Amino acid sequence: MTKLTDQFGQVCTILGAQWGDEGKGKLVDILAREYDIVARATGGANAGHTIYLPDNSKFIFHLVPSGILHEGKICVMGNGMVVHLQTFQEELDVLKENNIDYHGRIMISNKAHFVFDYHKKIDGIQEERKGKNKVGTTLRGIGPAYTDKIRRTGVRVGEILDFDAFTKRVKENFEMWKTLYPELEHDTDAELATLKEIQKKIAPYIIDTALYLHEQLEAGKTVLMEGANGTLLDIDHGTYPYVTSSNASIGGVLSGSGIGPKRLGEIVGIMKAYMTRVGAGPFPTEQDNEIGKHLQEKGGEFGSTTGRPRRCGWFDAVVSKYSADLNTLTSINLTKLDVLSGLETLKIAVKYTLDGKKLKYPPASLEDLAKVEVEYLEMPGWNEDLSDAKTPGDLPKNAQNYVKKVEELLDVPVKFIGVGMRRDQMIMR
Ligand code: GDP
Ligand code: IMO
Ligand code: MG
Repeated sequence: MTKLTDQFGQVCTILGAQWGDEGKGKLVDILAREYDIVARATGGANAGHTIYLPDNSKFIFHLVPSGILHEGKICVMGNGMVVHLQTFQEELDVLKENNIDYHGRIMISNKAHFVFDYHKKIDGIQEERKGKNKVGTTLRGIGPAYTDKIRRTGVRVGEILDFDAFTKRVKENFEMWKTLYPELEHDTDAELATLKEIQKKIAPYIIDTALYLHEQLEAGKTVLMEGANGTLLDIDHGTYPYVTSSNASIGGVLSGSGIGPKRLGEIVGIMKAYMTRVGAGPFPTEQDNEIGKHLQEKGGEFGSTTGRPRRCGWFDAVVSKYSADLNTLTSINLTKLDVLSGLETLKIAVKYTLDGKKLKYPPASLEDLAKVEVEYLEMPGWNEDLSDAKTPGDLPKNAQNYVKKVEELLDVPVKFIGVGMRRDQMIMR
């Protein structure tokens, strides 16, 4: 039998192709068995990647790559990430409680940037000041930490190894923010004391991960790149300003890991069989009605990081095609097809028109996006429960047709179909 890596290449990338929470964690966990290294390149603890094991036990990872449950696999947190070490420590504690041996299996880039507790507080202040225009962030300090990075005032993970110099840098950084937000109250000494304790344990994890990845690839090892957030939340390509603060699409995978584009093999876009969004911002196919309620209830659509209810709507082939093009997707994992069971008629958005003109991509301006007329195609639904389907042929004809329609509209093959939450509920084509 040919190995999956022969087909998917030495570096396989998994990307969120919608507004996040598409089910990336599940596929990463499944494919991690076949790869030597699993690496994150972007985002921080705004991500929440869920894995259900066959015994129904559940893990949600925010910073630690989702390959950690597989014995012996190496997990890399790349330079493009923003890291809140206290959250990282909590994740290590959960792994320990579950007897998962992570020693020697996690590496953090010395060039990744810190998220401090005060970044989280600033995130909250900024949201409050925006009032009705707030982004609806995860309040994990992501925007302020990336602001520090881009403004060239950030503190990098490697700096913690010289704790005296680090202390000075953190205090200066905090004072700078305090001039912008005088209401900011924070005990930096207490936070530094916590970080010092964590540093003692994790100092050996901090390395030049770009060098590590390069050397491992040269030695023939394989790497699974775990995208975070989603393409429509990308700072450049998403529905700005209702986006996150990093490049959640393919560009971020490269810059955030130090792996060059010629190394990339399969690029799998994760797409729900419908769409969801947490937080504010445009969502042309949103169904604030009984359909949305069906999707939310049956799909358990509550944020993995914040617990907020996710907004739900029909699959949007315009947005998804945009995402497929931007990321040069080579395949799709259509997830949560099981959630559509029980809907009599299914709709897929196939065309955007603005002032009578057909648009190929969603418009940049939010005002225009709000005015867009969305045209749908309709397909008959099905009532059967899909959760035990193991092969494409086990799916009802209408479900098979739905998957074929998505492939046809996006011109990308659907190689994986999710039919339930658990690791074993994935059809491979
Ligand atoms: P991620 O951030 O992309 O990793 O996705 P999340 O973990 O935030 O959200 C996806 C949710 O959908 C999780 O609760 C998963 O367990 C669940 N899920 C993933 N794939 C499927 C599927 O095929 N069917 C069902 N019913 N649930 C799924
Ligand atoms: P995963 O990796 C869903 C959204 C937030 C908000 C916007 C900005 O689990 O798919 P931020 O805290 O990043 O400044 O918030 O982006 N967002 C996500 N939504 N899944 C995610 O990650 C997200 N990461 C950020 O809800 O609208
Ligand atoms: Mg998530």
